[in-house]
Amino acid sequence: MSSTLPRAAIIGAGSSGITAAKGLREKGIDVTVFEASDRLGGNWVFGNVNGMSAAYRGLHINTSRERMEFTDYPMPKSYPDFPHHTHIAEYFEDYVDHFKLRPLIRFNTKVEHAAHEDGGGWTLTLGDGTTERFDALLVANGHHWNARWPEPAFPGADTFAGVQMHAHDYKSEDALRDKDVVVLGMGNSAMDIAVESSYVARSTYLAARRGAWIMPKYLFGKPMDQALKNDPRIPFVIRSRVTERVVIAQAGRPETYGLPKPDHHFGQAHPTVSGRILDRIGHGTVVPKPNIERLEGDRVVFADGSSVHADVVVYCTGYKITFPFFDDTFLAAPDNHIELFLRVFHPDHADLAFIGLLQPLGAIMPLAEAQGEWVADYLSGRYALPPRAQMLAAIRRDMAAMRKRYVASKRHTIQVDFEDYLGALERERRDGGRRAAATGFPLPVPRRAEAVGA
Ligand SMILES: Cc1cc2nc3c(=O)[nH]c(=O)nc-3n(C[C@H](O)[C@H](O)[C@H](O)COP(=O)(O)OP(=O)(O)OC[C@H]3O[C@@H](n4cnc5c(N)ncnc54)[C@H](O)[C@@H]3O)c2cc1C
Ligand SMILES: NC(=O)c1ccc[n+]([C@@H]2O[C@H](COP(=O)([O-])OP(=O)(O)OC[C@H]3O[C@@H](n4cnc5c(N)ncnc54)[C@H](OP(=O)(O)O)[C@@H]3O)[C@@H](O)[C@H]2O)c1
Repeated sequence: MSSTLPRAAIIGAGSSGITAAKGLREKGIDVTVFEASDRLGGNWVFGNVNGMSAAYRGLHINTSRERMEFTDYPMPKSYPDFPHHTHIAEYFEDYVDHFKLRPLIRFNTKVEHAAHEDGGGWTLTLGDGTTERFDALLVANGHHWNARWPEPAFPGADTFAGVQMHAHDYKSEDALRDKDVVVLGMGNSAMDIAVESSYVARSTYLAARRGAWIMPKYLFGKPMDQALKNDPRIPFVIRSRVTERVVIAQAGRPETYGLPKPDHHFGQAHPTVSGRILDRIGHGTVVPKPNIERLEGDRVVFADGSSVHADVVVYCTGYKITFPFFDDTFLAAPDNHIELFLRVFHPDHADLAFIGLLQPLGAIMPLAEAQGEWVADYLSGRYALPPRAQMLAAIRRDMAAMRKRYVASKRHTIQVDFEDYLGALERERRDGGRRAAATGFPLPVPRRAEAVGA
């Protein structure tokens, strides 16, 4: 490892942290990955001892294998198009071993606190109370582990006679067997859980405050994310309208199944993907309902005045972006709002970057891989950020575009389009490479921290 390059710490050895570690190590940067769990893979480790995984026993990915795999390490061809979570966890383990990244990871080591030092650099306080210093910090702690319950809680929630759970705590359909179940939400958790419920529960109701366009897993005999060409040169509005027409031609409109009519076009909400929900509704085993209005004893009352008996309500109402290791006064993401240059760099802190903090139309992993390579270019002096004012202007444009395009919701604060985002990163890396060359490739983050201890 180069002794002049900054020492970097990464928080988290999920798919984002491991690929960033690879990117940094390849540029000669001395990197340590802190992982709270006893294993890597984060969300994809069913029953992860860190208590942060949202995986359920029956979980399969909804972005296809070829969309999700890292660019230099394909998933085995023996894997199905939409592998089970056990395949995905195994794939990340294999990736780490293939690229010999395991020695970089400190397992069972939670970062309790990350303090930004005056003048730059970081002091990390670890689970055992010890501290370590680093020059740069990469945050890859995931954003699907802190459950967002309905806000505010529904009237009567505090006296409801049945069980209320969040999708994050749903582990298998065993919790729903022979029960009357209400599932709330129109995202992917709600689709999967309602479908699983429909096979074992006495009744399953799917309640929603807003309609969604439901993408099938396959179109024209191919995984849908490979069947539709997504050329960034074609304006997104045209691409998304074509997709909408294809979805309507293939499955009809959601309201013909009794689901709420979407109040937006395809592409204006995070995609909901399910190959089975419409079938289960068609079989009468999932019954659509409008939003929950209140809970009353052992009944759920919906916005249209109808009510049903319920033993279990599963809130599939999304997640909060959270950084428990930062002081709130330093950095937080209220209502999931966080302003970063191309979703990675903080305009006020040259030694801080975020990996995987985005919601793509497509899979997170190849984007996190590209982000890691970008940060590695930066820390090794091959790339120079634009001036702060330019970053702030880009962030403002980005936020305005997101607000204009997406329905207002706390789930739409970090959205990107897969190919468009990769293209933007590539262009920015090239531009910043020229800036770095023009000034003699200076290191933006000096090496100060010693290899061991404070
Ligand atoms: C049910 C479900 C299904 C999904 N399906 C898909 C899909 O099909 N395709 C897709 O692209 N995305 C999917 N996602 C999105 C998911 O976020 C990504 O698949 C992926 O898990 C992101 O990886 P990550 O490394 O950013 O975060 P995570 O997988 O959450 O990993 C974060 C890691 O950081 C560690 N960590 C956190 N805090 C600390 C700390 N303070 N100190 C030390 N370690 C810490 C955790 O222990 C964990 O190992 C899904 C999400 C959910 C909830
Ligand atoms: N098989 C898979 O691969 C799979 C499975 C599950 C999850 N995931 C992924 O995991 C991430 C999280 O998905 P998610 O479905 O858990 O969450 P999500 O995408 O954030 O969806 C939350 C849903 O709950 C609704 N909602 C939120 N608050 C509500 C309230 N107070 N009252 C009524 N409805 C409310 C939202 O409606 P609005 O739109 O109106 O805000 C939305 O329909 C996504 O990236 C998803 O793709 C993938």
